[in-house]
Amino acid sequence: MTERNLDFDRIINRKNTDCLKYDFAVKRGMPADVLPLWVADMDFETSSYIEDALVERAKMGIYGYSDAQTPYFEAVAGWMKRHHNWEPKEEWLIKTPGVVFALAMAVKAYTAPGDAVLIQSPVYYPFSEVIADNGRRVVSSTLVLGNDNRYHMDVADFEEKLKAENVKLFFLCNPHNPVGRVWTKEELTAIGDLCVQYGVTVVSDEIHGDFIFKGEHQVFAAIKKEYEDITITCTAPSKTFNLASMMMSNIFIANPELRAKFRKQLDAAGTSQLGVMGLVACETAYNKGEEWYEAMLSYVKANAEFTRQYVEEQIPGVKMIDLEGTYLVWLDFRETGLSVDELEDLIINKAKLWLDSGKIFGDCGRGFQRINIACPRATLTEALERIRDAMKSR
Ligand SMILES: Cc1ncc(COP(=O)(O)O)c(C=O)c1O
Repeated sequence: MTERNLDFDRIINRKNTDCLKYDFAVKRGMPADVLPLWVADMDFETSSYIEDALVERAKMGIYGYSDAQTPYFEAVAGWMKRHHNWEPKEEWLIKTPGVVFALAMAVKAYTAPGDAVLIQSPVYYPFSEVIADNGRRVVSSTLVLGNDNRYHMDVADFEEKLKAENVKLFFLCNPHNPVGRVWTKEELTAIGDLCVQYGVTVVSDEIHGDFIFKGEHQVFAAIKKEYEDITITCTAPSKTFNLASMMMSNIFIANPELRAKFRKQLDAAGTSQLGVMGLVACETAYNKGEEWYEAMLSYVKANAEFTRQYVEEQIPGVKMIDLEGTYLVWLDFRETGLSVDELEDLIINKAKLWLDSGKIFGDCGRGFQRINIACPRATLTEALERIRDAMKSR
């Protein structure tokens, strides 16, 4: 058997498949005819090995309670070792129906109502939602956009916030959505040492760890034993292999006490095993998805370079922040002079695009838009042309 799904230029009609990206515009307050490049899934078919494994399992006809065994763990661990030089142990693994679900469980497990949880805005908006929705306080140490066109952590501010707010838990986005940073070992160590010093538990969301274009992904827990002891590492095949609706993720917790607290929250929430299709998809992805993954990654990398060049040459006043990792590009419209409302109107009603408005990632995201470039080049080109034309005609 060989991999069949390597034509990333092919436009696949996702309409009328109940997918969030294409079928929910009107329900979510958008005009019906917007081109969607918002939610973080891809317009590519996944690996044909995964398709075939799911079809095979579906044909079995019985979908009773199932769980994963050692070969499943070996598939996940093999991927982590090959790609991230990290060797988690089998007993560290807890599977959850998604990473955001794990974030919510961590809030409940490691904090009490009213406690402070730290984030680094602008950041993936469910971070603040799961904190606030569970009655905890959202504290942000805002990232700083440098003259090098990259965001940086403000380590002094980070320490100040840990102290002043008595922070109990920190959500690290590694690599960072939406600013596209791949944090270096040095950067992670600067804040990691502070978390150890102030007794802060760390949730490291590494769901984008397979999308690296510059530098390399550093598993936070792998830097030092002290970090391993305080960290909940969230991984999933869902971004990498476009499996978001399979509702499965692999959470690693080395510290037995932290693990027991986390598991208790899962029990309290009434969750136990995951769906069998998610387990089959994950194991197959990590065992057989290599060729598809490498090809997809180079396609997305070329899309990133195409976007950078297009924005630089054709859309004056708009700046693309350097994309080191993730497939989510962060566009800076602040020099266009448009207000946040005018920008929104331009993107939605003139360019007819559905993007993620920067303001939902925190106030510091006002004047930015996030665009998902994991789509065929023709779709991406169409979106960029629409922005260019809307900007010209204003
Ligand atoms: C940083 C980050 N974490 C988590 C998720 C979603 O994870 P899940 O679908 O497993 O809840 C996303 C999706 O965009 C994300 O960007």
